[in-house]
Amino acid sequence: MKILVHGAGGHMGRIICGMAEEGRFGAELAAKVSPELESDPANAVFTTLDEFDGAADVVVDFSNHAGTEALLAYCVKRNLPVVIATTGQTEAEKEMITKAAEKIPVFFAANMSVGIAVLADIARKAAAAFPEADIEIIERHHNRKLDVPSGTALILANAIRDVRENAVFNIGRPENGKRTQEEIGIHSLRYGNEVGTHEIIISNGNETITLKHEAENRALFAEGALKAAAFLEGKEPGLYNMKDMMA
Ligand SMILES: NC(=O)c1ccc[n+]([C@@H]2O[C@H](COP(=O)([O-])OP(=O)(O)OC[C@H]3O[C@@H](n4cnc5c(N)ncnc54)[C@H](O)[C@@H]3O)[C@@H](O)[C@H]2O)c1
Repeated sequence: MKILVHGAGGHMGRIICGMAEEGRFGAELAAKVSPELESDPANAVFTTLDEFDGAADVVVDFSNHAGTEALLAYCVKRNLPVVIATTGQTEAEKEMITKAAEKIPVFFAANMSVGIAVLADIARKAAAAFPEADIEIIERHHNRKLDVPSGTALILANAIRDVRENAVFNIGRPENGKRTQEEIGIHSLRYGNEVGTHEIIISNGNETITLKHEAENRALFAEGALKAAAFLEGKEPGLYNMKDMMA
């Protein structure tokens, strides 16, 4: 499976490239593409996607949501499946992703960790068992992270909303006043080199459940993305996520 890594010069991109160079999960590096890399076609390194027209089976994207349109145009033009691990897309960019998935297989997951998929499932069950409980989500990440709240916090909040139709996300609790029962509070901490911790507190006043997932290192996201790339092989056009891969 030949992989084109988009965002190859970033933290995640470098990890993915390292794994592909070692042949992990059946991967082979087709090309590295990233704005900060100087094009060097002899070594399959390119500044922009359009410079590369060599053989590839799948694109793995850990870049910036601002590049969504160009990324999708390239993948559709070349009929290449794409794993989008980048987070922070605007609504318009999410629509572009849905549209592209009518033409090519697209795996889109704000968190490539199997543990987070399990956590979302447990959170959904716990929220259903305690319909009156207050729910708060706290997420912690390194000080370079751009999007707030994290895409993963939104995955968890949306999993809870599956069983609480009236849920309202209160991001950062910016105003004075008592919380309402419909609220899911979402709080973002940014410091140092924190890889990513998500905590969900569910409390009805008599008892409190705390669910917590801690990412120990970033390699777990890269592994998940390579597994997702393998999952896309031979798939029909469509929008796929962690739930599909774990089914
Ligand atoms: N889905 C997951 O499990 C998961 C895990 C970790 C990180 N992420 C996301 O992956 C993305 C990258 O994370 P990172 O820690 O490697 O960030 P980073 O800042 O280290 O790297 C970002 C890379 O994207 C490139 N880039 C910036 N703007 C671009 C554009 N318009 N077009 C193309 N490339 C562009 C940068 O040059 C850089 O190479 C972020 O959105 C992050 O939230 C997702």
